[in-house]
Amino acid sequence: MAFRSVASRMTAGGLGVRTTVGVASARSSFQPISRCYTTQQPKKSNSNKLVILGLLGLGAAGGYYYNNTGRYSLSTSQVNQKKPVDYHQVYKDIVEILEDNDYDDGSYGPVLLRLAWHASGTYDKDTKTGGSNSASMRFEPEALHGANNGLKVARDLLEPIKAKYPDLSYGDLWTLAGVAAVQELGGPTIPWRPGRVDGVSAESCTPDGRLPDATKKQDHIRDIFYRMGFDDQEIVALTGAHALGRCHPDRSGFDGPWSEQPTVFSNEYFKVISERKWVKKDLANGGWQWVDKNNPTVMMLPAEIAMFNDKEFRKYFDLYAKDQDKYFADFTKAFTKLTELGVPFKGDEKVYKFETIDA
Ligand code: HEM
Repeated sequence: MAFRSVASRMTAGGLGVRTTVGVASARSSFQPISRCYTTQQPKKSNSNKLVILGLLGLGAAGGYYYNNTGRYSLSTSQVNQKKPVDYHQVYKDIVEILEDNDYDDGSYGPVLLRLAWHASGTYDKDTKTGGSNSASMRFEPEALHGANNGLKVARDLLEPIKAKYPDLSYGDLWTLAGVAAVQELGGPTIPWRPGRVDGVSAESCTPDGRLPDATKKQDHIRDIFYRMGFDDQEIVALTGAHALGRCHPDRSGFDGPWSEQPTVFSNEYFKVISERKWVKKDLANGGWQWVDKNNPTVMMLPAEIAMFNDKEFRKYFDLYAKDQDKYFADFTKAFTKLTELGVPFKGDEKVYKFETIDA
């Protein structure tokens, strides 16, 4: 696993400029299937003409068409069988693209994990809307929600894999990428099952404001995660994912990583937040964040220190700082639950446990 020194990657400023998040990746999962029945041009005989007329008649009823390669084909409406997706191969393909020494700290893992979480964390248990099922972040306005700034990087990165597997849904691909990121960067094995069905239009988008606002306090964090159906322990376990990655001034407006090893998934986040002295730092964009007094490249969000200072939340920060095995077990359960919120499983889906490739 490759990562560069954190200090060398620090960016000055923190202007909080909002990036324009395009929707180049916002296309539906619909891929026409072209099944060919002959490789030869039809001969111009009367009997063939009859066959052609017959086929055209069928086409009107059922979707045959003569395509520009000179082949008779079936349209998708007729050939609606899905090919089984080789999820082990999809996992391997994701692992292939994780490392990049020119990106951030050397891995796309953190931003892929954030994509899986933001796709899932829109769930509302009361209305049963949102969640990873429809992959609605492909569409505006959800792609442009401020909380999703920077996730175009992750969505675009996965496009070639989506193109390779037309029958793989975006929701399955994004959540599987989150699983691969955690596992390959040193985290626990996360059981995963397919079954997400892509939405086909912006109608599947969720309203803005369903994801947490890092400038707010613990009550807001509870409101957001209780809405999804999580309890305090699960909330703390999930937030420990900030062992990975960093804040970007041009995405969230915050700046820096949560630890000196932002490409290693461990319980380090809990140790860092418990053991260091945190001081406020004003940002050039008018906001502020906490930084480690002795290593100000390492940061915490206002919401996180508010959570840490909450008596009920604190129990779990202390628990996970002391016990990585317990943390891994609880994270696994909570993350699986997160990525499955609102997914209409039939109940007979295979549960996959992927072998780590790059550890
Ligand atoms: C307490 C609730 C949470 C808040 C307020 C929060 C806020 C943030 C913010 C402000 C960023 C920086 C984005 C950027 O500038 O690039 C971020 C990044 C990140 N978040 Fe969270 N987050 C929360 C929960 C979670 C959860 C539950 C997960 C996953 C299970 C997660 C995973 C990540 C990851 C991996 C990154 C790094 C992304 C990268 O390096 O590009 N976060 N989060």
